[in-house]
Amino acid sequence: MNPIEEYIKARDEQARKNQDDILLEIAAQNFTEQIIRTNYVKNFTYKGVPIMQLPTDLMAMQELIWQIKPDYIIETGIAFGGMTKFYSDMLKPFRGSTVISIDIDVRKHAEAVLDELENVHTIRLSSLSDRMPDILSVFFDEKYTTLVSLDSNHTHDHVLQELKLYAPLVSLNSYIVVFDTSVEFMNQNYIPKDRPWGKGNSPWTAVQEFLKGNDEFVADKDIENRIVLTSAPGGWLKRVKEAK
Ligand SMILES: C[S@@+](CC[C@H](N)C(=O)[O-])C[C@H]1O[C@@H](n2cnc3c(N)ncnc32)[C@H](O)[C@@H]1O
Repeated sequence: MNPIEEYIKARDEQARKNQDDILLEIAAQNFTEQIIRTNYVKNFTYKGVPIMQLPTDLMAMQELIWQIKPDYIIETGIAFGGMTKFYSDMLKPFRGSTVISIDIDVRKHAEAVLDELENVHTIRLSSLSDRMPDILSVFFDEKYTTLVSLDSNHTHDHVLQELKLYAPLVSLNSYIVVFDTSVEFMNQNYIPKDRPWGKGNSPWTAVQEFLKGNDEFVADKDIENRIVLTSAPGGWLKRVKEAK
């Protein structure tokens, strides 16, 4: 084993121990409860563009992209375009790899960000538009390696339908990452009243329903054991079996 392999082996052993560390679990839960009250997720920019993600999630995503080297990253939910810019940069070492970014409402300031990204193709539609199955059919090809990132409307029904529509695109050993499953574990008193989602109606409940009787995907706990703080608890879904 070379020094890097040894380092990673020790890291993985520590992460497995952390899985049963109740103090770490309580710390993570306390943090998650405060995310919305403190607007923590709005603290960051990527190369000057707001990115609504936890830094630990970005680190995990960067590792996954490097490991999987996808031909396509398909993301739903662009907002300011910070995550799109991040995905675009992460794919640059892989010639020809492309980000497919989908949003129902691409604002002017996001258009300006997207215009500069050569390896990004934007689809200005609902992620569940009737046209989407046709559009996505282009990517149903086993010669492509595809990773999917869901971060649009966070209601149970919307995310469950997204999972059904987009999961078949995910290659073996690649992932569909469902962001904001943490909504289920936040302090509900601070979720703005105009949000249709909350405890019992969240990306997390959608993931639970999606995984029922599903032997193609598992929630990858190894990632969570390392990053601990995540807006996607239980949402790092790895394809472990070929699509039927
Ligand atoms: C949480 S923000 C995305 C944040 C972004 N991924 C980031 O990391 O910076 C949610 C986005 O989802 C979009 N959205 C809401 N409903 C949608 C739908 N049905 N289809 C596609 N996008 C939708 C909104 O317009 C908004 O831009």
